[in-house]
Amino acid sequence: MRPATTCRRIAYAAISAIGMSFCVATYAQQPTSGAPTPAAKPGGSPVHSIVLPQYPPLIAPGPNVDAFRKNCLICHTARYVSMQPRFSKTVWQNEVKKMVDVYGAPIAEADQALIVEYLVAVKGAGAPAALPAPTKWRCCC
Ligand code: HEC
Repeated sequence: MRPATTCRRIAYAAISAIGMSFCVATYAQQPTSGAPTPAAKPGGSPVHSIVLPQYPPLIAPGPNVDAFRKNCLICHTARYVSMQPRFSKTVWQNEVKKMVDVYGAPIAEADQALIVEYLVAVKGAGAPAALPAPTKWRCCC
């Protein structure tokens, strides 16, 4: 008799394999959008073109958005903000402070206050639904 952990590993492997093949099959059936990919002629150029997906901008318009753009997109995208829940002003202040103190973000004091105002306006506890919903992925995984 096999130990329980071996059985579990086999079950995980089987489930993963089924999941992956479903994923590949689903993705292969997706229609391609945009320009058609030129087929390589026999003996012709092997160069193909691909169409990359377009993502909507994640930077909501708001007061002091320029200070946000200038300082907060050096290390990561705006998605780090757009994917957060709505926070109180104190939480956003601490978040900006953390970027500066812990991660070394070079942001002037005056800009920090402007950025907090922006964050509260677009992602504050009482802010309207200003940011677009996150992009939905077509694949299951
Ligand atoms: C010096 C680089 C740098 C700058 C500039 C920066 N961040 Fe970050 N930020 C990070 C790192 C590193 C993480 C953590 C990444 C991880 O855990 O994967 C992070 C994570 C975050 C998160 C996710 C929550 C968390 O606390 O981990 C938010 C929200 C965020 N940053 C907002 C901001 C805002 C707003 C600004 C502008 C005031 C900013 N960041 C500027 C480096 C930076």
